[in-house]
Formats: sequence, structure tokens, C-alpha cells
Amino acid sequence: MLDQRLLPTEETWYAFTDYREIAEAIRSMVVRGAPAIGVAAAFGVALAAKELALEPKAHFETGLTVACAELAATRPTAVNLFWALKRMQRHAVAVGTNASPTEITARLLEEAQAIATEDEALNMAMGRHGQTLLPEKGTVLTHCNAGALATAGYGTALGVIRAAVAAGKNIAVVADETRPFLQGARLTAWELQRDNIPVTLICDNMAGYMLQQGRIDAIIVGADRVAANGDAANKIGTYSLAVLAKAHNVPFYIAAPISTIDYSIPDGSKIPIEERDPTEVTHCGGRRIAPLGVDVYNPSFDVTPAALITAIITECGVAHGDYGRSLGAFR
Ligand code: MRU
Repeated sequence: MLDQRLLPTEETWYAFTDYREIAEAIRSMVVRGAPAIGVAAAFGVALAAKELALEPKAHFETGLTVACAELAATRPTAVNLFWALKRMQRHAVAVGTNASPTEITARLLEEAQAIATEDEALNMAMGRHGQTLLPEKGTVLTHCNAGALATAGYGTALGVIRAAVAAGKNIAVVADETRPFLQGARLTAWELQRDNIPVTLICDNMAGYMLQQGRIDAIIVGADRVAANGDAANKIGTYSLAVLAKAHNVPFYIAAPISTIDYSIPDGSKIPIEERDPTEVTHCGGRRIAPLGVDVYNPSFDVTPAALITAIITECGVAHGDYGRSLGAFR
């Protein structure tokens, strides 16, 4: 696993052998981004199974349930984490009641690998569908990091941008720095530079001015959980961008795989919003930037109402309008 906390100044890789290390890596944001934490959790289950493979079946099953609960308790908002854990648990059962822990372990590793391979393929499909929405020439604003780092490869929102560039479109990107964790400055700018896609970094509070000047043609972001009616949770600051996009008549797109859609919740009010450590706000680059003892509120995500979303791009196609119906058709 590449330590995303250290990018872009350091490229440090870890090899984990224990699911508890994976849980800690998700919690501490060594790995982040909704699809990526789903993939990481799936490999966590495979590692837990390996640890338990020589145990009697009943112990194996209980141990796996404990590991899944530990992995599920790491971060609350991105539904891909829970989607991946459920898929792994269902797979363990589907191997068959007579299967031994060793057989189930082998199949769980294959399933984790399948989740990773599928994720990259469906990001590319999302790119093919989504790139048709972008102009032949223009500037696209994005927030946070919805790129290769946030997925198993290629990215959701950045995947759409990559596909547009691959289709010969002349696209420049404006990346919001994304306070407090700086995913835009540290990760999106790094990814796009490596791909030679023109990128301009701005502080989050500069987006409104650029939209007012007519310098942004579209906004595209990823999502951590989309409710059945299309309300979408994504990195804090996304909602403000959607309001700005509406005010300036600029299309606002969400790119997210079906695994990010939580059909079990009717609307965004039911999405749990993670609150993170106050030091993310009081400190920057390891240095304190606020007075000692100041009260801090640090929600990590916000919810953009469906009415502000021009379209939701998925691997199954582009959903518009009544999302209950259009996303429902992809179920
Ligand atoms: O806190 P993070 O960095 O995990 O939040 C990530 C985001 O909000 C992304 O925009 C989202 O997961 C989509 S990633 C393809």
C-alpha cells in the first residue's frame, strides 16, 4: 500500500500481512477514497481468513465475523467499505457448507482480487460514458481526489477526465486544494502532473471567483455514498461547489460506481457523516496554525442534494433527472 499521507513528497510503500494493519491504514488514511477503502477491506478479509485457515470451522467463521466488524468500524461514510465486506462475507458462505477453512481462504483471496480488477474496469467504463458530457475544449474543476489513488486504478471523476483527454479533448483541470486533508493539493495535482494533464491548483475559497469569471465549464467530483434519490455525500466542500455551479449555470457531475449507491437509504439525511480529529484543522503540515484550546468542528463530508446534480455517471450509464427512477434502473 502506498502511504497517501506522505504524498507528494515521499513515496513509501507498505506490505501488510495482518488485517488489523489494514484496518489501521484505513482509519489513519494511509489509504483513502471510497472504492480504494472497499478494495483494501476486501484484502483485509482475505488476510483474516489466512490467519484463521487452520482453525476449526466454527472458530474460522467467528474470527472472520470479528475481523469484518473491525474493518467496518474504521470509517462510517463511504458505503463501498460495507459493500465490499458484505460481498466477501456472502462469498465465504457461497463456497459451500462443506468447504474447509483452507478452501474458503483461497476463494476469498480470489474474490478480493476480483473486486480490485473489476473496480479498475468499471472506472474505465465510467470514463467512456462520462467523457461525452465534457466539452471538446474546456476547464473542469474537481474537489478532493477521485483518481487512481482513490480507487484500484484510473479513478472515477479523474477517470472521466482521463477518458476525455484520451478521446482527444483539450481539457484543463482546476484542482481545489481540499482543506483540511489537502487531497486536491497533494494527490490530485500529483496524479494529473504525472499524466501530463494541465492542472492549476487553487485554495477552496477561490472556486467562486473563478466561476464568476466564467473560467470553469464543468465541475466533476466523486462520491462516498449516494442515496436512492441521488443525494450524494462527498468530501466536505462539495455542497458549496454544487450551489456555486447552480448560481453560475455550470453543470455539476458526480462520477461514482454502483457500489457507491446505497439503495437502502431513501435520501441523504440518513448518510452518517464522519467527524475527524480537530488537529486536522488546527494544524497544517505538522505546524499549529490556530490558538491552543480553540473549539473545532471537522466534518469530513457533506451531502449535495440531488436537485443540484446535473447527472450521475456510473459504469452502467449516465443517470439524469429523477434519480430514484434513473439510478433504480441500474440496480
Ligand atoms: O476522506 P477521503 O479522502 O477518503 O474522501 C474521499 C472523497 O471524498 C472522494 O471524493 C470519494 O471517495 C470518491 S473517490 C473515487
